[in-house]
Amino acid sequence: MIQFDSSHAFLKENILDYQPKVNEIHQMIMDKTGAGNDFLGWVDWPNTYDKEEFERILKVAASVKDKAEVLLVCGIGGSYLGARAAIEMIQGLYSGNKTEVIFIGNTFSSTYFKQVENYIQNKSVVLNVISKSGTTTETAMAFRMLKQIMEKKYGKEECKTRILATTDKARGTLKELATKEGYETFVIPDDIGGRYSVTTAVGLLPLAIMGIDVKELMAGFKQAFEDLADADLNKNTAYQYAVARRILQNQGKDAEMLVTYEPQMTMVGEWWKQLFGESEGKDGMGVLPCSATFSTDLHSLGQFIQEGKKVLFETLLLVEHPTMDGLFPHDEENMDNMNYLEDKSLDWVNKMACKGTLEAHEITGNVPNLILTLPDMKAHTFGYMCYFFFRACAMTCYVLDINPFNQPGVEVYKKNMFRLLGKD
Ligand code: PA5
Repeated sequence: MIQFDSSHAFLKENILDYQPKVNEIHQMIMDKTGAGNDFLGWVDWPNTYDKEEFERILKVAASVKDKAEVLLVCGIGGSYLGARAAIEMIQGLYSGNKTEVIFIGNTFSSTYFKQVENYIQNKSVVLNVISKSGTTTETAMAFRMLKQIMEKKYGKEECKTRILATTDKARGTLKELATKEGYETFVIPDDIGGRYSVTTAVGLLPLAIMGIDVKELMAGFKQAFEDLADADLNKNTAYQYAVARRILQNQGKDAEMLVTYEPQMTMVGEWWKQLFGESEGKDGMGVLPCSATFSTDLHSLGQFIQEGKKVLFETLLLVEHPTMDGLFPHDEENMDNMNYLEDKSLDWVNKMACKGTLEAHEITGNVPNLILTLPDMKAHTFGYMCYFFFRACAMTCYVLDINPFNQPGVEVYKKNMFRLLGKD
């Protein structure tokens, strides 16, 4: 499903030499004995996920779909990035879906909030608030304001069918509030952290409301679980990728740029950055994850990659079959001198741009390139890709002896902010 190619990466170590270390860590992941082991619920989630809740998600999604001209998804970090990445990748950026999704509760920007408030004024709205802790300030602030807006518009009784809460199963402010108000609630399991939660209700509920085939997505997630069950570095592409990242860092490459050639996968880059950044960036270690969309960003970042400081390697996240394609037309006058492309498929042009860029960056620019190729941008592939990156991320962190499942550094800004905001 995902092909991995390290032949353009100038690796100075042999990936296979890491086999003993990988075997040890693989066992640790499967037995859930490593650091942060109480957050390894995602490992067997493809089999253990709550089937009853899954059915309830489908039922509730079907019942709210028709009244959701706008679906507001209120959450931050792992509580929104996966859903956003999936919706854009699978449906594209201008899908014509009669439900429009707006992500909110992921910023303190007053302008952003007020614009959304104005925008939804005359639209039929369903709100899914998502927060594991129930106390994240960006989300809690937005939710309080949205709740008041919705109660004013629909009344408290109707809000019971229009507000859906995804949170801890038993604890926390949001759980208490949702129970008191009579909202339908969905669970973020205790042993799955935010950035590993896209295949729980966190992602599945908004995706199902948006009409995405979540059964297919879970089938892809499970297929990856099965395909990656063997730690053998000759076969396990996620571990190959994880080890290649470590080797490149050993070669002085401290930044990784995830590159897509599909604008609808730009948010996959944002999701991936959170996964790797929050998991790996601690104890003064880690590879800085950044992302770009080519060829767009070749006209901005391309210069730096080609000739700037040699700090980074690229990971191309390519797609074999585009969702749509067409042929470039003939023009009788050919004033733009573009007839040399007539009858060529648009995707072929994109792929040639990729080939030429790889050659430029690798051969001329001396920038290592890893290549991951997805078959398409469908739900099944998205699910597969999530599990692939989860496994790769856990492996690459454990090779450095880093706990992939906490994020202690995030608390520092919160502490300062709370002091400035006058919170007790
Ligand atoms: O990966 C994580 O755990 C974090 O990014 C969280 O998802 C994010 O901070 C939001 O937390 P919560 O769902 O508790 O509001």
